[in-house]
Amino acid sequence: MINVAIMGYGTVGSGVYEVLCSNADVIAKRVGEEINVKYVLDLREFPGDPVEKVLVHDVNTILDDPEVRIVVEVMGGLKPAYDFVKSALLKGKSVTTSNKELVAKYGAELIKLAKEKSVSFLFEASVGGGIPIIRPLLTSVTSDRIEEISGILNGTTNYILTAMSEEGADYDTVLKQAQDLGYAERNPEADVEGYDACRKIAILTSLALGSQVDFEDIYTEGITAIDGNDIAYAKALGGRIKLLGLSKMNGDKVYCMVAPFMVPSDQPLYAVNGVFNGIFVKGNMVGDLMFYGSGAGKLPTASAVVGDVVEAAKNIGTTVPIEWSEEKTELAPMKEFTCRFFVRVKEDEQAVRKVFSDIEPVKAEGVSEEFAFLTGEISEGEFDEKISGLTLIHSIRSYF
Ligand code: HSE
Repeated sequence: MINVAIMGYGTVGSGVYEVLCSNADVIAKRVGEEINVKYVLDLREFPGDPVEKVLVHDVNTILDDPEVRIVVEVMGGLKPAYDFVKSALLKGKSVTTSNKELVAKYGAELIKLAKEKSVSFLFEASVGGGIPIIRPLLTSVTSDRIEEISGILNGTTNYILTAMSEEGADYDTVLKQAQDLGYAERNPEADVEGYDACRKIAILTSLALGSQVDFEDIYTEGITAIDGNDIAYAKALGGRIKLLGLSKMNGDKVYCMVAPFMVPSDQPLYAVNGVFNGIFVKGNMVGDLMFYGSGAGKLPTASAVVGDVVEAAKNIGTTVPIEWSEEKTELAPMKEFTCRFFVRVKEDEQAVRKVFSDIEPVKAEGVSEEFAFLTGEISEGEFDEKISGLTLIHSIRSYF
């Protein structure tokens, strides 16, 4: 029997407990031993919940118990998660986590520490909820140079954008629904301002490169500036607006960003709707790969966490290897990144054509007193310079 402890009994923590109890037989078969939840740590009481019999309030009960071989950290945030995880690794316990903040900030350090202690630090659920993306990147696409990762990495914002576009729903109502469904972060700013997707693309890019990409260096734009007119234009174009985490590796240049994009219907990410996430990976040998599934929510996320528990349990006494060094990757300047832009300005077409030579006008029913267009392929630097001569209402990068 392998004893595990779960730190945090919130949405994901209660899901992990449920998965480990409901699927105990198949899990035991795969591990070769029974997995027993010895403790669940939370400051709260849960009267009447079966978790009561294993509930503890002091982390040291877990840390000081040599019978606990695997710790599941699903508290979220950096404090006290970082200290608890580090202490667990130092005590020779493997750790699995869904905590993207923790992994983006301290992943490389915790992987190194786990290796020194011959245990594992695993974090499949930190990106893409239930979608297997980290293990495939580490164990399957190993013959390739990764040239691009672009993904819908946040379920909450994709849920909001889908409802606004398909049902004409109002932003605040849909955000509240996403919170009620357990998709949104405690502080919804982390979702809607793109901070959550930023941590996730930092993790994926660090894994693709094998070295640290600091999330603080990633240009990040959320969805709060998107209005009904942007959605009407996207429909008129036959596309959808999606919040993407994007990294492009071009020789030794690495571009990385989080921003809304106009996505045409022939792109695989166009069809990723609601709380689903989709991650497109391009390898220089394998070509295009797509990973798709539930990007947030109790059981999909818990499924990924427990998948890591199984992996750690199968590797007791050793380390599941992960290549991610603390050496920092310098990102290429955003002003060099090139793409097309969808743009709305207050001036008319004639005024716009004096500034941008190569444009494609875009019209949407019911929108007046502004001019919208797609630019040609242009660098961010050149776009910023040109647009400063016009009265910008909004611009969105475009895959059209
Ligand atoms: N708030 C996150 C999301 C949860 O909506 O994607 C999963 O990481």
